[in-house]
Amino acid sequence: MPVPMTRLILILVATLVPLSAQAGDAAAGKKRATACQTCHGMDGLSKLPEAPNLAGQVEPYLVKQLTDYRDGKRQNEIMNVVAKELTDADIANLAAYYSGIQIDVLPPG
Ligand code: HEC
Repeated sequence: MPVPMTRLILILVATLVPLSAQAGDAAAGKKRATACQTCHGMDGLSKLPEAPNLAGQVEPYLVKQLTDYRDGKRQNEIMNVVAKELTDADIANLAAYYSGIQIDVLPPG
């Protein structure tokens, strides 16, 4: 007897959802970050006066900003172009890489 279509769909959904919710892979993010290094550095420290530091940034924040740039919800001439090429997996991986960079904080004074 053939498997009913609804069951097939349920099986597909069950296998796809965990994949899309997977945590980022920092090593894969490091490879992708070569596209970001001119402005944000491989160390996550800004190389341009107008670019922010990304080192040690909160991971879900990075995911949200990159997704918003890609989807046009956050507007910036440079980042909208850069983020257009990124898949959800790329974004998760880049966020894992940059958030994983250890930073030491020493307040002034
Ligand atoms: C040509 C320079 C340039 C490149 C390349 C670039 N960025 Fe940016 N990025 C910027 C600038 C400038 C901003 C500030 C934009 C704004 O004001 O919204 C920014 C902002 C961001 C932000 C928002 C940070 C925050 O504090 O809200 C993230 C995240 C980010 N970039 C990630 C990346 C990643 C990941 C890549 C590589 C895939 C990348 N950028 C490549 C220049 C660049």
